[in-house]
Order: sequence, then C-alpha cells, then structure tokens
Amino acid sequence: MPYTIPAEKISEIKYASDILEIISESVVLKKSGRNYLGLCPFHSEKTPSFTVTPDKQMFYCFGCGEGGNVFTFIMKQEGLTFPEAVRFLAGRCRITIPEYSKGVVSENQINERDILLQINQQAMTVYHDMLIKSDDGAGARSYLERRGIPANILTGFKIGYAPPDWGRLTQYFSRLGTALNLVEKAGLIVRRSSGNGYYDRFRDRVIFPIFNSRHQVIAFGGRVMDTSLPKYLNSPETPVYSKSKSLYGFDIARSFCRQAGEVFVAEGYMDLLSLHLHGIQNSTATLGTAMTEEHIRLLKGICDKIILVFDSDQAGIKAAQRCTELFRLHHQPGDIRILVLPEGEDPDTYLQKYGSAAFRKAAADAYGVFSFLVDIAIQKHGLSLEGKLRVIQEMEAPLSSLSDAVVRSSVIREISERTGIDESAIQEKYRPAIHSRSTSKPLDTRTSDDHLRFEKRLIAMMLQFSEIIPEVIERKLIETLSDPLLKSIAMDIVACFDRMKQFSEHMDDLPSLLVMETDQIEKKKIIAEYSIQREEWRREGCLKLMDQYAAMQKRRRVRLLQQKIKAAEESHDDRLLQQLLKDFQMVTCPQEAGDYGKTVR
Ligand code: CTP
Ligand code: MN
Repeated sequence: MPYTIPAEKISEIKYASDILEIISESVVLKKSGRNYLGLCPFHSEKTPSFTVTPDKQMFYCFGCGEGGNVFTFIMKQEGLTFPEAVRFLAGRCRITIPEYSKGVVSENQINERDILLQINQQAMTVYHDMLIKSDDGAGARSYLERRGIPANILTGFKIGYAPPDWGRLTQYFSRLGTALNLVEKAGLIVRRSSGNGYYDRFRDRVIFPIFNSRHQVIAFGGRVMDTSLPKYLNSPETPVYSKSKSLYGFDIARSFCRQAGEVFVAEGYMDLLSLHLHGIQNSTATLGTAMTEEHIRLLKGICDKIILVFDSDQAGIKAAQRCTELFRLHHQPGDIRILVLPEGEDPDTYLQKYGSAAFRKAAADAYGVFSFLVDIAIQKHGLSLEGKLRVIQEMEAPLSSLSDAVVRSSVIREISERTGIDESAIQEKYRPAIHSRSTSKPLDTRTSDDHLRFEKRLIAMMLQFSEIIPEVIERKLIETLSDPLLKSIAMDIVACFDRMKQFSEHMDDLPSLLVMETDQIEKKKIIAEYSIQREEWRREGCLKLMDQYAAMQKRRRVRLLQQKIKAAEESHDDRLLQQLLKDFQMVTCPQEAGDYGKTVR
C-alpha cells in the first residue's frame, strides 16, 4: 500500500462514509432510477450530468469526465491529497487513525515511498548546503556563475553539489542511522561489487534535484563540470521516480503554464533554468527521454498548447513522428507544436545570444506537428512536380493516424495550399491506401472505431458484472485487447478480482477499490465512467458479446494475414509465404492446420 495509513483503516473509513450523504451536502441530487443526478460541482453546466451511484459508491460526470469514489470526491472538492482526504473523512465519521511513531512501528510497516522521499529531501539539503556554503562547493559555484546562473535560481531550484569523495553521502546517512539499503533504493548510493558496503552515486557533480508536482524530491541529475563522461548522470528509476512520467521544473512552472495557456518543453536541465532566467517560466523539460504519452497527459491537464523545443531538425522530426502516433491513440491530443532552433543552438545558448523576445517570436511561428512534417518534406524534396508528389506520399503515413475527419481534412487542405495541388486530387491519392488491403500497414493494424467500441463494452461488462470475469480470463480475451489503456485496465480488474476473491470480499466493491488503487487519473475516470453506465447484464448476453468480439478479432487477424501474404507474394519471399500460409490455415481452420503442419514437415 503506498500510504502510511493502514489499509484496513482506509476500508473502514470507506464503509463508514456514505457517498450519497457526503455529496448531498454540497450538490442537490435527484433520484433517477438506480442513480442520483445533479449539477456537476467540477464544471459549469445547466443540465445535470453528474451521477452518483450509491450501490457502487461511485460518482461520475458525463459532462467533464470527473469520477471516482468518496475519497476522489473529497480530494477534488477540498483540494486534498489522498491521505489528507482519508483523514478528513475519518474525522467526519469519528474513526481514529493510528499516528506513525518511530519507536513502535517496525521499519517495514512504515510506508516505503515516504521514507524514500524523506531520504531524497535530506540528500537534497546536504547537496544544496554544500554548493551554497562549503569550501568544497567553490568550484561548482564558479562553474554555475560562468554559465550565467544567478543565486536566486540556485536557491529556487535547490541546486547542489556532490563532492568528489566516494563516501560523503553514505557516511551522512549511516551517521543518521538510516538503513543504507533504503538509501540505495532511493538511487543515491550504490552497493560495492565486492558486496561490502556502499559508495556515493554522485561525485564531483552539480546536482539538479527533480521534484514532483507536490514539490517532493523524487530524483536527481548530476552534471560534470568538465568534459568527462557521462556529462549527466541521473537517478535510476525508483519506487518514487519514473522518468517517463516526470518533468523537470514542472512543479514551479505549473501555475505559469496555466496562466499562459501554453507550455514550452525543452530537453535539458540547463535549458530549463535558462528559460526561467529569461522570464519564460511556463517551461519544463523532459529528462533525457523523448516526450511520452504520460508527459502529454500531465501537461494537457494544465494548458492546451504544448510547444516542444529542439536543437536540431532531426530531433524535431523524431518528436513530431512520435506525436502522430499519439494522435493515433487519442482523438484529441491537442495543439502540439514543434520549435526547432537554428543549427547548433539549444534554448540555453539561443536565449543567451538572442534574448527572450527573439525566442518568443520564433515560438509564435512554430508549426503544428503535421505542418512541421509537411515543411520538412518540402525542404527535403523541393517543389518540382516530382518533389510535390513525394511530399504527398511522405505525408501519407502520418496522416493515416488521424481519425478525426476535421483535423484530417485541414491537414490535407494545408498540403494542398503549400504544394498547389488540388485538394481533391490529394484526397484521391490517399484514398486507395485507405481502402486497400495490401499496402499501408499502419492504417490496417489500427483499431477501428467499431473494434474500440467492443473493447470498451468488454471492460464495462467486467466492471458491472464481475461474475463474468473468470470466463473472460478463461477465454484469454485480455491478451487480445488492442487499446493499451483498456488492456491495462482489464489487467488491473483481474488482479483486483483475484485479490478480492482471496479475501472473499464483496465483488460489488470492485470498481470502487480499483479506483482507489489506480494512480493514473485517466484510468480512474474510465473506470468510474464504465462502472456507472449500468445496464442489465445477463450471463448469456455476456457470452454473446465475447463470442462476437472473438469473431471480430479473428476477422482482423485474417485480414492482416491476407495483407502479409500478398506482400510476401509480391516480394517472392517464399519462406515467409509458407509460414504465413500456415498461420492463415491455423486461424481459419485450426483442425486441418495440424495436418498441414505435418505434411510440410
Ligand atoms: N542527458 C542525460 N544523460 C546524458 C546526456 C544528456 O540524461 N548522458 C539529458 C539531460 O537531461 C540533459 C539533456 O539530456 O539536460 C540534454 O543533453 P545535452 O543537450 O547533451 O546537454 P545540455 O542540456 O545542453 O547541457 P549543457 O548545456 O550543460 O551541456
Ligand atoms: Mn546546453
């Protein structure tokens, strides 16, 4: 359990707090069948779409998508963290939560995440003091000064310095009496290969602490001050740090981003500091990884426009292509732009040379993902007739990821405007690819809307009619789900189901429990939404749905194999062809496939 409050206390509090009663205190609710309806307290609306389901102890707003259980409601309503919301409700229903005290509770009972965060906090202070105050820090101070970082940035971002010794931090924690295996788990020290003792991970480096949005230190990055390698050393992934979900400086940038309605995403620590220094505080940076879906989700919660800043065309192209993949997954990933700085400049050097006004101007002209790709293609192929055709061809793959017809046609319009080729001619050029079954792999492997609808219904069925879950497992349906988010929810459902079965808990609580255990807001909302949209499930109906789904999957596999077979025929790849034909037979008539396999051998 990721919280200091014992799990059984949490469930005690949950049972004692009736969601209907609690929500009724602030929202006027009217009964409507099994549910209660009211005006959503989290967005403004005139017709009620905020739904409370007492028998599931959940709420969901069909207008804004907020949803969850009683804890989620209090968190949102009162602006509290999960443990705070638990305590809030505990107070209401007069349940006392045992406070953690050092002497009584044994180490493994205390929450590990909290300890790791505390260790990080302590290390940050050690490093920061070392930079600001100590003689050891003099070299680092002058390095940062040379790089133009003033004192207020050093304190604002709690920048630090790790001395060259191999054991300074290890000694610090061992004097404090902290279990060194936990310091190791926090990624700060490394076990010696001899197996005896530990040494400090960060030595003779400038230290950049990485915070989460609650301003807790979750990891560190360290830069050398000369040309030795690696230039940057980062904390490993730990129970409190996942780099694909973290953004450097985001805790500070948050409110600026909200205000500006846009956010700049740079690639480096120094770039981020420089942006701040130049008054562009609505900025953050990825941490040595490409932008992930989770990053986008995090940013999209705050502002609509995301401007990714790169120091080369190549990096920009990669990112733009990756973004088109995100468009494939989500219908509206929002306004994402690509800003490539002039050759050889990163945001830091650019700002130092040209200043913030020039940066803002360049940013205002930054292209959206698709326009950027069009631009790059035009640069590459030129605008001769042949060049134009190549441009159109090159845009085919990125365009295939756009399922939103409006966005799609606006991109096609842009290609038309920029190449001077008639829109309908471009449409026509793409059309065969859309319908053909032999080419354009990205298009055909895509999950169709129909398909997705099926997958959604399967998840809803599992949430609303848990007795069917064993059958779903038996049929191995979850492995075949193609939407990654839905698949991961399905796996969570099964895990939760198994655990509840073990403790013979009442399965009606499954959705609520699941919401509580899920960290990801997107998932929480989907779980709440699907649990509440209640239909009368019956076993036969469920079996039929699963049959239909399996049939659909089979058709999809057949279609894919047909495409591959055709391609293999065209390229005269006989070995592959034979294998594919075997697979084909296996899918279409599994009984004979066995014999076929034998005769081949
Ligand atoms: N990075 C990393 N590990 C490395 C190199 C880079 O984690 N060995 C990450 C860091 O987050 C770094 C970013 O990638 O900030 C960009 O790297 P780079 O462009 O090489 O460095 P700069 O950010 O320009 O740093 P500086 O200006 O200090 O050279
Ligand atoms: Mn740099």
